[in-house]
Amino acid sequence: KKKNDNTSVGTFVHSTPQTPLQILEDALLGVDTRGKIAFIDKGGELQDLSQTFGFSPSKVIQLEDHEFFMPGMVDTHIHASQYSYAGTALDMPLLQWLNTYTFPVESRFKDLQFAHNVYTQVVKRTLRNGTTTACYFATIHTDSSLLLGRIAHDFGQRALVGKVCMDRNSSYPLVKPVVTPRFAPSCSEALLTQLGAIAKNNNLHIQSHISENTEEVKLVKELFPDSESYTDVYHKSNLLTEKTVMAHGCHLSDKELVLFRETGTSLSHCPNSNFSLCSGVLNVRNVLNHKVKCGLGTDVAGGYSSSMLDAVRKALDASKVLTIQNPEHNTLTFEEVFRLATLGGSQALSLDDHTGNFEVGKDFDALRVNVAAPGGPIDLIQSDRPKNLLEKFLNLGDDRNIMEVFVAGRKVVPFTDL
Ligand code: GUN
Ligand code: FE
Repeated sequence: KKKNDNTSVGTFVHSTPQTPLQILEDALLGVDTRGKIAFIDKGGELQDLSQTFGFSPSKVIQLEDHEFFMPGMVDTHIHASQYSYAGTALDMPLLQWLNTYTFPVESRFKDLQFAHNVYTQVVKRTLRNGTTTACYFATIHTDSSLLLGRIAHDFGQRALVGKVCMDRNSSYPLVKPVVTPRFAPSCSEALLTQLGAIAKNNNLHIQSHISENTEEVKLVKELFPDSESYTDVYHKSNLLTEKTVMAHGCHLSDKELVLFRETGTSLSHCPNSNFSLCSGVLNVRNVLNHKVKCGLGTDVAGGYSSSMLDAVRKALDASKVLTIQNPEHNTLTFEEVFRLATLGGSQALSLDDHTGNFEVGKDFDALRVNVAAPGGPIDLIQSDRPKNLLEKFLNLGDDRNIMEVFVAGRKVVPFTDL
């Protein structure tokens, strides 16, 4: 088996719980043979490595001036099964959209050949776009859901995959099952309760949708007249846990956000989808003020882009829309949104012990970014500081700027291993 150890020299940018953007220049970062971060040393000298750390890497990565490493991005909500029609079919509100476009396409995933084709494309595309961790919705089909897990494993992506088959844990170290009730309107109370019990008995992740559009909220009120709120529907079935991520939440009340906070449930903010289906504008500032864990999601194909960079930009746009509507609103900064896309996402998926930033002991999930990549979308006129380089990459960059992608220390882009 290939060894993954290496030492990188150059600029590292990442987030911590205390600061949304920490910049480490002229730093050394060592990755051990298990792919874990062994040390990170600001201003260290390569020659001292073996003395100081008893470490002689099998590979040294020397970054150029306009390059930096950032943590891999975490897509907290993406429908792998909807990738085939991404970029189309955005002319209806949610409930009509589901019936007209989504359900017919998803029914095709009983065909494993079709599933194999779509799932291979989406895993490759998201990896190239810098998504090192993805929290996927598959379909109701067990075999093709298992196939998605295998494809993520084969390409080396860290993933949560639902639909889930009970407690049959996969043997893929980076891929975990996630209990996936689609959303309350398509689940009976009995199904929700059973899924809550399965998750609890097997300590599994949970994902679903909540409070995406107002018509849906109204429907849930009618379908679950005994529940105090949409959030209460899931809470009653023990589906709100430390390992639960709920997508959207545009129309949650403050009281519901308190319940999110109390149960440790997190939110996946999917701004492209919220704009595209005219669902609503989530107030992320209010979510953060309630100390609810929050990450970003592409929500393909309600969101038309599979790129987390697009999610970053749309999250900034959504926050600015709120400021236009109310100048008192405290707009999110690009540093804060950078954190949502990386550390925030890993916290939202309860994976922050393993990934999300460059802390010793965590897995090395990282993007090698070249802001001035030849043939890329960015022209560097002057030599910018790392903070400006990161801002330019977030606003203007694309996969041409992502030279290499590492997951758990293994280089997964370019696809050399397959
Ligand atoms: N709510 C229930 N199912 C879906 C889905 O597939 N996409 C989105 N955006 N919302 C949903
Ligand atoms: Fe969704």
